Amino acid sequence: MKLMRIAVTLTMLAVLCAGCASDKDASAPPDASERIQVGGLGKSVHPFWEQVELGMNTAAKTANADIEFFVPSKEDAQKQAEKIKSWVALGKRGILFAASDPETVGAAVKDAIARDIICVAMDTDAPDSGRVAYVGTDNFAAGKIAGEEMGKILGGKGKVAIATGSVTASNSLERIEGFKEALKEKYPGITLLPEVLVDNEDRAVAVQKAKAKLAAVPDLAGFFGVYALNGPCCANAVKSAGKTGKVRVVCFDNLAEHMNMLKAKEIDIAIGQRPYLMGLKGTELISAIIRDGKDKALQEMGAKDGMIDTGVDVITPADVEEYRAKLKELGVPVTGW
Ligand code: BGC
Repeated sequence: MKLMRIAVTLTMLAVLCAGCASDKDASAPPDASERIQVGGLGKSVHPFWEQVELGMNTAAKTANADIEFFVPSKEDAQKQAEKIKSWVALGKRGILFAASDPETVGAAVKDAIARDIICVAMDTDAPDSGRVAYVGTDNFAAGKIAGEEMGKILGGKGKVAIATGSVTASNSLERIEGFKEALKEKYPGITLLPEVLVDNEDRAVAVQKAKAKLAAVPDLAGFFGVYALNGPCCANAVKSAGKTGKVRVVCFDNLAEHMNMLKAKEIDIAIGQRPYLMGLKGTELISAIIRDGKDKALQEMGAKDGMIDTGVDVITPADVEEYRAKLKELGVPVTGW
């Protein structure tokens, strides 16, 4: 009798344990009390990524999430892929990532997805990785806006150099494509220098390459700074050459450095992205997927064709204060300018 009772208890335990195992399945109904572990993966040590991290941590408070944020010191797809692997081993529930190279990082993301980890791209997309969605700027459109602004301030003529932190990340490539397209369509009188200055988000390299280009092309009319790092580095090189206002700078981003240089008219136009919202909405999306499933979550978050567009603004020295008010309205914290 006693033996039979033990056998029945063991069978019941086995049934219960089978239930436990299926709870781990990502498609199973979520447990409301679950505290989710989310990895945030940026691309370089830069205030841009601090804004993304801040957005993630803000969302984490209501999403019942713990955030582990990581950036390599500069663009390094290998280090990013290794971090994703380590997060898979740690059993993270979600990963919000920006791939320095969609191939290398995308392979690690594919493995993570195969283990039921919710992977969302932000800032720079990697659609072939199978990520659920992309949260960030429409980079081709934003690059086009930058091209139009450059065309306008140069009156449609002159030589322009492009400086970027990456020639593998899709956001950089798309911005450059958009920029070229705008010039081709509307400002064919502008000559783009064939060599793109690439620094892999290393500040010293960025400044040195901008200085060298200024020295080699004395009639350079403008720099297009593709990444947050580039505009200020180009503007500083222009300043050292005593050419502020003569060599115009159109660049991405709206961090304190950019805003202060805009005020000083060392940068002419900034295309302001919303990195805080990338972190915030990306984390909210992961949490919503766990709560409501993928389709409902994407709908709730207003995704279109797998993208949540965080938007951009064109900022000139004249509308810095107006822009500050707009950021406040969007709930984006403003510091340092
Ligand atoms: C880009 C990021 C980049 C950052 C820092 C931003 O414009 O969207 O991908 O890492 O600049 O340079």
